[in-house]
Amino acid sequence: MQKLQLDLEGPDPRRGLSGMAKGLVGSEILRIAAEIRTAVAAGQKIANFTVGDFLPREFPIPDRLRDGTLRALAAGETNYPPSDGVLRLREAVREFWRDRLQIEVPLQSVVIAGGSRPVIYATYRALIEPGDTVVYPVPSWNNNHYCHLVGAKGIALETDPEHGFLPTASSLRPLLKSARLIALNTPLNPAGTVLSPSEVVRICEAIVEENRRRDRSGGKPLYLLYDQVYWMLTFGNARHEIPVRAVPEVARYTIFVDGISKSFAATGVRVGWCIGPQAVIAAIRDILGHVGAWAPRAEQVATAELLRDQPAMDAYVRQHVGRLQERLDRLHEGFSRMAKAGLPVRDIPPQGAIYLSVKFDLIGKRGFRTNDEVRRYLLDEAGFAVVPFQAFGLSGENGWFRLSVGAVSVRDIEEALPRVEAALRKAIA
Ligand SMILES: Cc1ncc(COP(=O)(O)O)c(C=O)c1O
Repeated sequence: MQKLQLDLEGPDPRRGLSGMAKGLVGSEILRIAAEIRTAVAAGQKIANFTVGDFLPREFPIPDRLRDGTLRALAAGETNYPPSDGVLRLREAVREFWRDRLQIEVPLQSVVIAGGSRPVIYATYRALIEPGDTVVYPVPSWNNNHYCHLVGAKGIALETDPEHGFLPTASSLRPLLKSARLIALNTPLNPAGTVLSPSEVVRICEAIVEENRRRDRSGGKPLYLLYDQVYWMLTFGNARHEIPVRAVPEVARYTIFVDGISKSFAATGVRVGWCIGPQAVIAAIRDILGHVGAWAPRAEQVATAELLRDQPAMDAYVRQHVGRLQERLDRLHEGFSRMAKAGLPVRDIPPQGAIYLSVKFDLIGKRGFRTNDEVRRYLLDEAGFAVVPFQAFGLSGENGWFRLSVGAVSVRDIEEALPRVEAALRKAIA
């Protein structure tokens, strides 16, 4: 048979795309990460602090999850999972909440998906009409993209380093009146900071108050999307607060997002879930069912086993947090030392997640005008790859960057810090 070469492009390949698809902005982080992969492939030595992912060599998944998945596959767990998730896993998530958080939720309030992303997207889809207002603080992860996908009017609330790049109830309150959804994430990607329990209480009280007003006026409720995918990863005195613990009345308006990607370094295993009001959860289940964004069945069975094995889970999380903290602490100590020596750098002490906020204070010095110029300088001069906060929606050339430690070893950090120090000295010489 003669080989047929298909023309799949045509003269104007994007002509047929929807306005939404044409307007999608690609991930800035993935663009930078691709650039770094190319440089590494070309032989450059680079400490890669860019991607919010884990190098399996440094951060393997729990044995229980790996072995459980293989066992489940061998046992024939290969057909479609139920659209709201494998029952054993939904029950395990309930027990997890009961045992860990002392909070009881009905089974109908739990839905499983192929990671946290699908449940975040489905939450936006289930609650937001085109033109509705969604409030989210910046820097934050991907809310601008989710707003675009559903045609929401996004209101980005700019935060500052003095508050750990976190929102406060008083900064949010004036924005709540017009909003249908407020999207919060703590511990925070990108800053590695944690909302204080007292601030969570104040924010929840403001949400409840606004909903009481709407109940009286017959308006649609204001919901809270509470993304806590990093909640098991906190350091030192930082404590993660669960809104419904502090203000039980906010439960009717809150959708909790969680999953195994970060707490168990299982980003590629793809199991996430959300907990919330039953009508919203049923809508999320139906939306995800039509998309087919389920977690693979065998992985769901293995995740249920893991969540039910408290000792194994605790041992894993202790080790995982220790590995992350060691890396973040080394970086923090290194930058503190440099700052004491008068170099133009400062950071926020690590509190949670897998990130450190660092300010390389070079803008306005030696011709540096933009964060991207600083980023490139650190990459070329020190083999040090970081992501500017603009990739998380914060405007302004302010010198702040996210460093993610999931893909580096302690040795990588020890080798990289002197290179950064030399680059900073050179930049201000
Ligand atoms: C705040 C936050 N939420 C959700 C996700 C997505 O997690 P998943 O891998 O479960 O889709 C990420 C991933 O980086 C994240 O940083």
